[in-house]
Amino acid sequence: MTVTADTNQHYDLDPELFGEFLDPLRKYSSALYHADTDTLEQAQRQKLRFVADRLAVRGGERLLDIGCGWGSLVVFMAEEFGCTTLGVSPAPRQHEYIALRAATAGVADLVRTEVGHFEHMTLPERHFDAVTMLGSIVHMPDPVAVLRRARAALRRGGHLYLSESCFRNAAARTAFDANDGTEFVREDIFGWGDLRPLSELVAAAEDAGFSIIAVDDLTEHYRRTIEDWIGNVDAAAERIDTHGTGMADKLRHYLEVANAGWGYTTKHYALTCRRAR
Ligand SMILES: C[S@@+](CC[C@H](N)C(=O)[O-])C[C@H]1O[C@@H](n2cnc3c(N)ncnc32)[C@H](O)[C@@H]1O
Repeated sequence: MTVTADTNQHYDLDPELFGEFLDPLRKYSSALYHADTDTLEQAQRQKLRFVADRLAVRGGERLLDIGCGWGSLVVFMAEEFGCTTLGVSPAPRQHEYIALRAATAGVADLVRTEVGHFEHMTLPERHFDAVTMLGSIVHMPDPVAVLRRARAALRRGGHLYLSESCFRNAAARTAFDANDGTEFVREDIFGWGDLRPLSELVAAAEDAGFSIIAVDDLTEHYRRTIEDWIGNVDAAAERIDTHGTGMADKLRHYLEVANAGWGYTTKHYALTCRRAR
């Protein structure tokens, strides 16, 4: 039986809380900035186009998003490319929110979601043209088992896009994995998470049978994304505190911890992999 972790203490909070500091699509992962003047929303849309490009999406593909958050990617791919999308996540309130968004965008027939841990889901084999994991593998205790399942769901020639925050190397993990900031983010915010060095994710993808075709360094983009989120937390602090006493301070502290280590302790990468056979 594959082990799973519980992160609903964070992700199943009221979706409106996340609306206070994320972009209007509520994408909770790194954006991609092209210019100094880009807004958070523009940068998140650019990032979704970048993912589509890495996946070689042309239109009408079948796409599985593992750890779908509030549906930014599944709704975008349905709206922009007519993709048939399935989003999975263990947080029930995310699914209620996605159903509303998909209906408002007129793509309810293209967007489906399933509540639960991906590790325990039965999905059709060799069915999807593309699989995405943006910021979700950090919450999964057994990355090799997860990537084997992701590969099994892909058709031959299909692509996996995986982006994740990583320790910069094994030495940084040893030095920082148990410090106060890391523990606060892992325990008090998310409930569970295991930041790994990139080499471990690369080895997991290879062991699962993938052929790796691109590695992108998005570290500076995530730093700027989080700066934008912190600005939004400050601007909406009073409304955020209606979701719990001290909530704005708690969110700000976690975002500051995340932004303190980029480049030295931590990095943010996107891996693109292919199911070659
Ligand atoms: C950082 S959020 C990223 C959300 C989305 N990918 C985005 O970019 O906006 C991580 C997501 O992974 C989900 N998640 C955590 N553990 C999971 C699991 N075992 N299986 C599927 N999804 C999981 C969380 O509920 C959350 O939706």
